[in-house]
Amino acid sequence: MDIYAVVGTGGIETIQAGIHHYEPGNHTIALLVKGDFRNEISKASLFQTWMAVAPLMIVITAKYDRITGRYGDRGIRYAIMESGHIAQNIFLQAEALGLGAGIVGAFSDESVNRVMNIPSSHEPLLIMPVGHKGL
Ligand SMILES: Cc1cc2nc3c(=O)[nH]c(=O)nc-3n(C[C@H](O)[C@H](O)[C@H](O)COP(=O)(O)O)c2cc1C
Repeated sequence: MDIYAVVGTGGIETIQAGIHHYEPGNHTIALLVKGDFRNEISKASLFQTWMAVAPLMIVITAKYDRITGRYGDRGIRYAIMESGHIAQNIFLQAEALGLGAGIVGAFSDESVNRVMNIPSSHEPLLIMPVGHKGL
């Protein structure tokens, strides 16, 4: 699994706008591309423009061959289940912080990958807009 944070301009005080990659080894994020890509992501998500209002979108992807090498085709099932666990944890953390989160599964994989500049071997599974409730 890979987790990306798509941060909008001014969306998070201490983090600049751009696409950031979560680095689990040291629990940090690394800036991949600068810029505000929220509109592009919402367009890639079948023009669900409501998403672009959120200051942050979290994109969850899976690279299946990392896991199928060990578990065969069943690994795909495990990766998809894991994306749900990650999403649920994001929902819980958002709630704990007094924020709201949504979940988006309707998008063009190719378009999301193009906007994110990630290879097609990394399948986007879920996108979670996060922000203050009632925006
Ligand atoms: C895996 C998954 C993907 C979803 N994808 C979308 C989506 O792309 N767009 C959308 O408007 N709702 C999507 N939903 C539904 C909403 O997140 C939400 O569950 C629904 O709007 C009902 O919310 P409510 O019970 O708070 O009214 C998805 C739900 C799940 C579980």
